[in-house]
Amino acid sequence: MEFEPFGLYDWLKRYEDRPMKNVLAASAVKSVTLRELGAGPELFEGELGQHMATPFHPKLHEAVARAYGFPLERVIITLAGSEADLLAIWSTVKSGDKVVAESPYYQPLRSVPKALGAKVVTHQRTLKNKFRLDLGRLEEQLKGARLLTIANLNNPTGVGVSRRELEELRDIAARRRCTVLVDEAFREMSFDAPPVAASLGDEFVSTNTLTKSYGLGGLRTGWLLGPPKLVARALTAKNHTSVGQPLLEQRLAMLALEKREWLLQRAHRIRDANAAAMRACLSRQTKAGWVEPDGGGPVALRLPAGTNDVRFSERLAEEHDTFVSPCSVQGLPGHLRIGLGSDTEHLPRGLAAIGALL
Ligand SMILES: Cc1ncc(COP(=O)(O)O)c(C=O)c1O
Repeated sequence: MEFEPFGLYDWLKRYEDRPMKNVLAASAVKSVTLRELGAGPELFEGELGQHMATPFHPKLHEAVARAYGFPLERVIITLAGSEADLLAIWSTVKSGDKVVAESPYYQPLRSVPKALGAKVVTHQRTLKNKFRLDLGRLEEQLKGARLLTIANLNNPTGVGVSRRELEELRDIAARRRCTVLVDEAFREMSFDAPPVAASLGDEFVSTNTLTKSYGLGGLRTGWLLGPPKLVARALTAKNHTSVGQPLLEQRLAMLALEKREWLLQRAHRIRDANAAAMRACLSRQTKAGWVEPDGGGPVALRLPAGTNDVRFSERLAEEHDTFVSPCSVQGLPGHLRIGLGSDTEHLPRGLAAIGALL
């Protein structure tokens, strides 16, 4: 098993430690503080021992199940979205299987199946089709496929998969006897949230995390929702990866779920202010454009034809104190990824810097 280099994270690590005036590179919502979360001294009470037969705190398990309206046997808690995706793929794919993965992409959704020896076929989301899935083409591509991986919302375009599209996809997957992994790290950042895919049928497995839409990037808590058999296999796989969740982290995650409504409302306020700033900027800026996203999280700003997005991003960092990521590390050359969850003071200034460089 060999993993290819992670283009996006390699890029982010280049500049992450350099203080910059305008930080638009993160996909996640601006961080919440421990104080805002209401973390108090009671977090530090009790023993640190861990009972190995309990991979996660039953109360956290129940809180996630309740928040998403799932029975417990359809839910497991994971080390953030990354472990949820890994376990979903691991529980589904064997070496030699065919996997269809979208592009532009969040890389593990294609590099994990590849590392497991799967044959990965790309489902291209095109600018001409406003980056939506092409369901007719997917029906063809899913012949003989074991798994389809997509993100809703897509990272980096912010384009979603609607309820109607999910229902059609479920019917296609049923005909093709194929599982569909829907990474929902940004679903709750949609303007008009589509349903959790796993609530629509056993063809789907959904993954999510507190790190993105909830603004809790340092809390490595995520979950996987799916049919009981797949969830049981994922739990067996978890026994070989992390075994269990950190104790203090789980206490914080329970607090976060108690404050779920507040956290998501806060995220939406940030998203809406930044989306308005993007629209205002693009109404004046003729050199750049976007496909209006379904929310965000990450969105993709299109540069003039022929612009090298990596070079452009380097110049933004070096000369304009502005941190973005080039979308060519996610299969979409000629675009910049901008986080609509960014600090609302940073985003307008960063857009002005992009305008100046254009
Ligand atoms: C679509 C998507 N899924 C999963 C992840 C990984 O999330 P986590 O940091 O919770 O592991 C990311 C990270 O950016 C992401 O963009």
